[in-house]
Amino acid sequence: MKKKIMAFIRNLTWTYNPSTEREASDATARNFLLHWFPAKTTTKSMSFGYSLALGIIIFTQLTILTVTGLILMFLYVPSVERAYWSIKDLQFVVPYGWFIRDLHRIAAQLMVATVFIHLVRVFLTGAYKKSDKIAGSYRPLNWWIGLVLLLVTMILSYTGYLLPWDQLALWAITIGDHIALSAPVVGAAVSRVLIGGTIIDQNTLIRWYVAHVFLLPLLIFALLFWHMWRIRKDGGLAGVEALGIERIKQDRVVAKGKTYSLMGVVTGVTPTITQYRVRGASVSSSPYVTRRILMIFVLTTVVTMALAFMIKAPLEQPASLMWTPNPAKAPWYFLWLQELVADTTIRLKGFTISGGLVGGIMIPTVLLLFAAAWPLLDKSPDEAIGVWFHKSRRLQNTAFLLVCAVIVILIYVGAVMRGPYWHLYMPWQHWIKMPTRF
Ligand code: HEM
Repeated sequence: MKKKIMAFIRNLTWTYNPSTEREASDATARNFLLHWFPAKTTTKSMSFGYSLALGIIIFTQLTILTVTGLILMFLYVPSVERAYWSIKDLQFVVPYGWFIRDLHRIAAQLMVATVFIHLVRVFLTGAYKKSDKIAGSYRPLNWWIGLVLLLVTMILSYTGYLLPWDQLALWAITIGDHIALSAPVVGAAVSRVLIGGTIIDQNTLIRWYVAHVFLLPLLIFALLFWHMWRIRKDGGLAGVEALGIERIKQDRVVAKGKTYSLMGVVTGVTPTITQYRVRGASVSSSPYVTRRILMIFVLTTVVTMALAFMIKAPLEQPASLMWTPNPAKAPWYFLWLQELVADTTIRLKGFTISGGLVGGIMIPTVLLLFAAAWPLLDKSPDEAIGVWFHKSRRLQNTAFLLVCAVIVILIYVGAVMRGPYWHLYMPWQHWIKMPTRF
């Protein structure tokens, strides 16, 4: 009876149950969707405590965004006369249109936040560091691809912000445009490319729409496939490095990768994943990894849908250049930049360097360059690769967390403590709501 119940539950949850390892490997290699997984995966790579499954969560959010985005494309009209009203129709006329819009909006916000948290986890586990234990591996490359993914994710979200063509959208874009304008020499040219002229109008809407629904998604998927392929080339997640080091300590020979040449066109060295085939250290990717990914996918989808029911996407009055909301705020993930812009104007004896240049361009560029150079500057030992808070990395982890804390505090100040004319208010102080139309 117990066996029957177990079999019933298994059938409900996952029908595929290979009887041998060979059958499991074959299933991975033969299946179109599964063949990009290795036949075996180390349990360390699968450990939730190591990766927090953030990459899969981001992937799920991206899938939700793609599906809901496609549905929205059938209903949204990218014209300054129609855009706002097509969103209104979605909210109030189209059956469940509000839900598709809310789901798209919340998934986008969550994705920006999760990508950032994923970056933090990768840094704190030293997973971007180069090691020569695995032939063909070069982990810094995936960190750099990740940095571009972060930028593309933020720009994707920002371009979507304009599309409802309401006051929130128009003025958030105006803030970004003013920051671009403060760049020396190229500022005016960059702004013209961004908004397609000198004022935000139909030209801006159509170029941001094309970037949002086509160019940036194309780029993000291309980068994502490269990101995933690099993880395989690197021999799995960085957490497995410790297994290799352990084997070397035990004086066990670490196998060299085999060189290959496909018709002389592509040459290379296979990752020596075999070295980690320690008993109990790896399992068949199918069904163990696939089942786990499916679970995280379903869970993330359910949580995101529940949040979409609870949190309504904002829609203010139609965009108008005739009146400015006070205060006008950028989307939350750019509020730390807006706050820096407000705080960093330097005045020296009649000579002024604008906050737009210092806080909006110079500081983020320096941060980005530092982040990009870090894998080459980090001299911590190989033992620190793929280990949370390794003792040799205490100083750099602390400095990194401090920078993250400052960014989070600036976002909080921008979101909660800035009132009309960007004056500072304590959380318990109230400001008078400025009229929205004159
Ligand atoms: C669209 C955004 C991104 C997606 C969908 C994504 C996806 C993934 C996935 C699925 C993994 C496997 C492990 C895990 O789940 O954590 C991973 C690992 C990794 N990601 Fe990302 N990622 C993104 C952005 C980033 C960013 C912003 C960075 C850093 C700048 C980054 C750097 C890395 C690195 C270095 C690894 C290997 C980690 C290790 O070996 O432990 N990724 N990513």
